[in-house]
Amino acid sequence: MKKTLLSGVKPTGRPHLGNYFGAMKQFVDMQSDYNAHIFIADLHALTSVSNGTEMKQSTIDLALDYLAIGLDPQKMVLFKQSDIPEVTELAWIFSCITTMPYLMRAHAFKDAEAKNKEVNVGLFNYPVLMSADILLPGAQIVPVGKDQKQHVEIARDTAEKFNRIFGETFVLPEAKIIESVATVPGTDGQKMSKSYKNTIPLFASDEEIKSAVMKIPTDSAGINDAKNPDTSILFQIHSLVLDEAGKTALREKFEKGGVGYKDLKENLIFDLITFIKPMRERREKLAQNIDEVYKVLEDGKQKIRAVIEPKMQEIRLKVGTKFY
Ligand code: TRP
Repeated sequence: MKKTLLSGVKPTGRPHLGNYFGAMKQFVDMQSDYNAHIFIADLHALTSVSNGTEMKQSTIDLALDYLAIGLDPQKMVLFKQSDIPEVTELAWIFSCITTMPYLMRAHAFKDAEAKNKEVNVGLFNYPVLMSADILLPGAQIVPVGKDQKQHVEIARDTAEKFNRIFGETFVLPEAKIIESVATVPGTDGQKMSKSYKNTIPLFASDEEIKSAVMKIPTDSAGINDAKNPDTSILFQIHSLVLDEAGKTALREKFEKGGVGYKDLKENLIFDLITFIKPMRERREKLAQNIDEVYKVLEDGKQKIRAVIEPKMQEIRLKVGTKFY
């Protein structure tokens, strides 16, 4: 029996290679080994987005991104959080067995407070909704970044507390921390990040790829000089899209000398285009058939509903809100 895996993703805008190699790709890699569920966390995004058009667009973009990189609805379930309003019902039930002081210890809340941000009730209650996301479909494994580890622990505590009060109901979930396979360097050698403006977009056009690669700084080694791959940003970025044999061959090219940085950049541009273009084209094609994307989400909704509806009935019976 495959274990049940579930994770939610919030839209972060246009994804870049750092997002892809850091996290997105790992969902694709895991989809066959688990009974996998990935959902678009639009209700969570509402804590910071107050624009309906933007909300709708980023939800569609996120679905397109993940389908384009290879999430396969034949193998896994892709759905939209708001398509199961039961999670908000369950979040309310959980709110009633969760204390304020407990939630005040959550990092996300403490950080927001420390920065004097205006904390809405949704943000404060964010971990409770997330507990409902995780527990309602019976997730056993929850792959998340390090920053979300505490939220999964809160879900576990909540499951234990509910089970203690109302009787055995929920499976205790476990976080599976997604370690970045590699820190992906940006075009300036710092960590690739939107805030450093050093990204290579995951679905970049050929022109964007070229201009990003041209920006990568190199040292002053001439064509015939031996070059050090281990200190080269060019080499590090190129390694992302090469297999072991390709990496060894490129390392040799650097170390032997005889190939200038201009050619090494041309090689990188070529390999990046080879890597990105099929995904970019798949995304463009999907965007032209947006009804198919809606259908994927609709199918996902039906599949997940079959699991959560009986579970929610069981919960209502236990808490006493349903009896006829
Ligand atoms: N909070 C998560 C994030 O910001 C997204 C999320 C919402 C989630 N619900 C979830 C992740 C349930 C895992 C399981 O990344």
